[in-house]
Order: sequence, then structure tokens, then C-alpha cells
Amino acid sequence: MHFGIGRHACPGRWFASHEIKLILAAFLSKYDIKLKEGESRPKKFIFQIMNSPNPNAEVLIRKRVECSGMGMGPREELRAE
Ligand code: HEM
Repeated sequence: MHFGIGRHACPGRWFASHEIKLILAAFLSKYDIKLKEGESRPKKFIFQIMNSPNPNAEVLIRKRVECSGMGMGPREELRAE
């Protein structure tokens, strides 16, 4: 992702990057994500100065088992198993 360069570089870039990190952290706390069996990291997509994830790549996403409290581990009943 790019925010422009020089005099007119995006003044919202720090705010935006904090928001993106929060969204990513919330996503990763609720979902597991992995590549398909036998696949390696998809080639990135580069257009001029933009360096982005491959828009055609496919990943597997699975909802994680609910965690208790501050997201510090599995619920008691799961831990006992
Ligand atoms: C993912 C989020 C964002 C991206 C990718 C982004 C990207 C950009 C880009 C590429 C420019 C043009 C820079 C240039 O002309 O060189 C720009 C300008 C600007 N952005 Fe953002 N931006 C984002 C979020 C925000 C946010 C959250 C704000 C405000 C709260 C913001 C406010 C501005 C303003 C005011 C300009 C014009 C700056 C100027 O012309 O001097 N942007 N942004």
C-alpha cells in the first residue's frame, strides 16, 4: 500500500496504518488463515510504485474456537480435554 510521496504525501497515513493494524489483529484473533495444501506464497502484484498482495491468490480461512477473557487462551472446558 502506498500513501504518496513528497509534499502531498497522505497526512492520514499514520492514522490509517494504525487502523489497518487493529483490523488485522482483530481478524487474526478470530480466524486462522493458511495457503492451500502444497502451495507456496503467491507472487506479489507490483504496479508502478505499488506493491500489493496477489489479487488472484486464494487462501483458506477458518473461524477459530472462541476464546475467553482477553483472548489469552482456550476456554476452561477446552483446556481440560
Ligand atoms: C488506507 C488508507 C489511505 C490511503 C491508501 C491513502 C492514500 C493517499 C494517497 C496516495 C494520497 C495522495 C498523495 C500524493 O498526492 O502524493 C493521499 C492524500 C491525502 N490523504 Fe490519504 N490515504 C489513506 C487514508 C487517509 C486518511 C485516514 C486521511 C485523513 C484522516 C487521509 C487524508 C488525506 C489528505 C488530506 C490527502 C491530501 C494531501 C495533500 O494533497 O496535501 N488519507 N492519501
